[in-house]
Amino acid sequence: MVFIWGGILALAIGVSGHPLLGRNARTITSRALSNESTYDFVIAGGGIAGLTVADRLTENPNITVLVIEHGPFDQRQDGVMVPGAYFPVPYLWLPLSSTPQTALDNTVYGVPCGRVVGGGSVVNAMFFHRSSAVDYEAWDQLGATGWGWADLFPYFKKSETFTPPGAAYASEHNITWDTAVHGFSGPVQASHAPYDYPGSANFYNGALSLGIDAREDPNAGDATGIFRLERSIDPKTQTRSHARINHYDRVIASRPNYHILPSTAVARVLFEGTTAIGVEYTNTTSSERGTVKANKEVIVAAGSVHSPQILQLSGVGDASRLTSLGIKSIVDLPGVGRNLQDHLVLTVNYNYTSNLFPNSGSLSSNATYATEQRALYDNGEPSAFDITATTGNLIIQLPLSNWTSNSSSIISTAKSQDPAQLLGGNPDPTVISGYRKQRDAVISNINGGAVGDISWSTGPTTSIYMTRPLSRGSITINSTSILDAPLIDFGAITDPTDLEILLAIYLKNRELMATPDIAVLGPIETSPAPGITDLEAIREALKKFLQPSNAHQCCTNAMMEKEDGGVVDPQNRVYGTEGLSVVDASVWPLVVASGPQASVYAAAEKAADSIKERHGL
Ligand SMILES: Cc1cc2nc3c(=O)[nH]c(=O)nc-3n(C[C@H](O)[C@H](O)[C@H](O)COP(=O)(O)OP(=O)(O)OC[C@H]3O[C@@H](n4cnc5c(N)ncnc54)[C@H](O)[C@@H]3O)c2cc1C
Ligand SMILES: *[C@@H]1O[C@H](CO)[C@@H](O)[C@H](O)[C@H]1NC(C)=O
Ligand SMILES: *[C@@H]1O[C@H](CO)[C@@H](O)[C@H](O)[C@H]1NC(C)=O
Ligand SMILES: *[C@@H]1O[C@H](CO)[C@@H](O)[C@H](O)[C@H]1NC(C)=O
Ligand SMILES: *[C@@H]1O[C@H](CO)[C@@H](O)[C@H](O)[C@H]1NC(C)=O
Ligand SMILES: *[C@@H]1O[C@H](CO)[C@@H](O)[C@H](O)[C@H]1NC(C)=O
Ligand SMILES: *[C@@H]1O[C@H](CO)[C@@H](O)[C@H](O)[C@H]1NC(C)=O
Ligand SMILES: *[C@@H]1O[C@H](CO)[C@@H](O)[C@H](O)[C@H]1NC(C)=O
Ligand SMILES: *[C@@H]1O[C@H](CO)[C@@H](O)[C@H](O)[C@H]1NC(C)=O
Ligand SMILES: *[C@@H]1O[C@H](CO)[C@@H](O)[C@H](O)[C@H]1NC(C)=O
Repeated sequence: MVFIWGGILALAIGVSGHPLLGRNARTITSRALSNESTYDFVIAGGGIAGLTVADRLTENPNITVLVIEHGPFDQRQDGVMVPGAYFPVPYLWLPLSSTPQTALDNTVYGVPCGRVVGGGSVVNAMFFHRSSAVDYEAWDQLGATGWGWADLFPYFKKSETFTPPGAAYASEHNITWDTAVHGFSGPVQASHAPYDYPGSANFYNGALSLGIDAREDPNAGDATGIFRLERSIDPKTQTRSHARINHYDRVIASRPNYHILPSTAVARVLFEGTTAIGVEYTNTTSSERGTVKANKEVIVAAGSVHSPQILQLSGVGDASRLTSLGIKSIVDLPGVGRNLQDHLVLTVNYNYTSNLFPNSGSLSSNATYATEQRALYDNGEPSAFDITATTGNLIIQLPLSNWTSNSSSIISTAKSQDPAQLLGGNPDPTVISGYRKQRDAVISNINGGAVGDISWSTGPTTSIYMTRPLSRGSITINSTSILDAPLIDFGAITDPTDLEILLAIYLKNRELMATPDIAVLGPIETSPAPGITDLEAIREALKKFLQPSNAHQCCTNAMMEKEDGGVVDPQNRVYGTEGLSVVDASVWPLVVASGPQASVYAAAEKAADSIKERHGL
């Protein structure tokens, strides 16, 4: 059996000196490999970070790279490619669920993540924007030395081709940007939607009437205020620019040295002493196993839920826990799988007595409109199908003191918590030490960068996000098999401060909906707390309705000092090992207060340069 995709067939036999160079096949099956097969680099996980690094390393034709990806190639279905037809269910990791969340009545939640070549970029909502400079400065201060805003800035530019909107459309829709901060020749196609719903003006003007700044360009280091969302969408076709397209399809014709083995799980990293020498993998359908060797490095990029799982299964993690499961400890690193962060989501629903037509609900409620818009889209004309289904084009992101006059009380609440107790379990002192430093950084920036967002879709749904959590979760293996899910504990609102911040944003949203610009549309809240004014009752309602994950998981192999529970050094190398690095969002010390994907692309570009440098490439 051979995996066939786009007419490319896998062949096992190479030409020229190196057995893997000079052949026509890039998508391979395990049948094309023997346990003796060797690549320079083996990458575990073909998501945003994995494919970005694979692309950059294979620019050198003498270097061979194998990416092993759990999921399949997508088939360019509408749900993947067409924003208005979003949502690509087949490529989600299902089923995947959290542990019972102790601060949320032991409720179990789904864990959204992509399982497909391209990872999250194939299933995400395509919002593509950087966070505020203070967020990356905090990384640098917490031990990710050399990862501040100025260090990442060239990589943000390198990663994108930004196409500004037409001047007339932009001025009519108040879309602004700063050319100086963008890239114009990078792999990711980035653009603004050429279509909008009329209600966007009400949202925009309502926000301005509350004194919220209109931001010229959130990608210039200040991602607060109200702004238009840039998206990872090719403006020529209005289709998704995902990592498989922009870091694999784009280059593969000239890269016989770049291979992907899909539908295969990396089961563990193989070591000789503390040197990583390859990986063992498992075919996800047949459970057949094999090994492949890495000459130079094994690079882990399986995302923030699964990268710590792979490390732990490989003997890299909390030694006592691993030993109790019968796994031989390679290096005792208690930080592996700790420090899980994500954004909280609260959906607020309204009925509108006089909403404008069309709005983001019209595609699903009005078949005539949907047909008409689809025809426009297929004809290459501006259409509602240019916008990710059910979402809008605008977002408000603000620091705490701009959401509420209660920020000093909330800060006191934060400072009164006992970090060791909040973590629960019996955390290693190094993990507690790192958490204390993180809390200090988060609290000192709480009135600087954003702590949360409001985005009104123009239809029934307003989304509120809490993006600066003080709570921490964890990822812990529950068996010795890669095919079993790890325990995923978001630790949602275990620090009650997070609920206070969410409450502050929720209350500000009520003010926003009551501004004359929005009140004219007749919004009537239907959930989560219609008509409720008692704060304690609102808190209870928020707890029932919030979701602990916006699919922005990160930080589970933090780039911090080992003494602070860190897992990798500033060159992405796993402490205590040789030939092993991690390059995905799991290495961030703190979650960024924006959609993460632009930062994942940039951070992986930086990691690729660092890997090239140490191997003299
Ligand atoms: C539904 C959804 C909506 C989102 N919306 C947005 C948005 O609008 N804007 C935004 O900025 N961000 C968004 N995100 C988040 C963004 O996509 C992620 O932050 C980003 O993809 C993380 O990149 P990564 O490289 O760390 O991991 P991923 O892109 O998740 O890649 C990890 C890859 O590793 C693979 N893998 C896992 N385990 C193994 C194993 N054992 N062996 C081999 N391979 C393995 C996975 O299948 C996956 O393909 C969204 C995510 C989701 C899921
Ligand atoms: C997985 O195993 C099945 C059954 O043996 C096989 O058909 C398929 O090609 C394998 N997949 C890969 C990617 O090797
Ligand atoms: C690749 O290897 C060949 C032969 O050793 C060498 O001449 C060439 O410079 C190398 N190319 C790169 C980009 O390193
Ligand atoms: C653009 O801004 C102007 C002036 O603030 C406002 O009148 C108009 O409604 C806005 N339009 C949109 C689409 O935001
Ligand atoms: C936050 O509030 C301060 C003080 O009122 C104001 O100067 C600033 O512009 C506001 N920031 C944003 C992003 O609206
Ligand atoms: C290849 O490695 C796998 C996993 O270690 C093992 O199960 C299998 O027997 C090996 N195959 C051969 C031919 O040695
Ligand atoms: C449905 O869409 C059509 C086509 O745009 C429009 O003419 C009609 O008014 C819409 N109906 C409602 C109830 O909004
Ligand atoms: C202000 O914050 C404090 C501390 O979190 C909280 O007890 C109080 O209820 C809050 N008040 C308002 C009006 O949100
Ligand atoms: C963890 O493993 C135990 C023992 O095998 C099992 O009973 C339990 O269901 C597992 N938990 C999860 C969430 O998979
Ligand atoms: C909202 O609208 C729905 C459908 O028209 C209706 O059933 C419901 O009672 C309304 N809710 C409120 C609070 O107005």
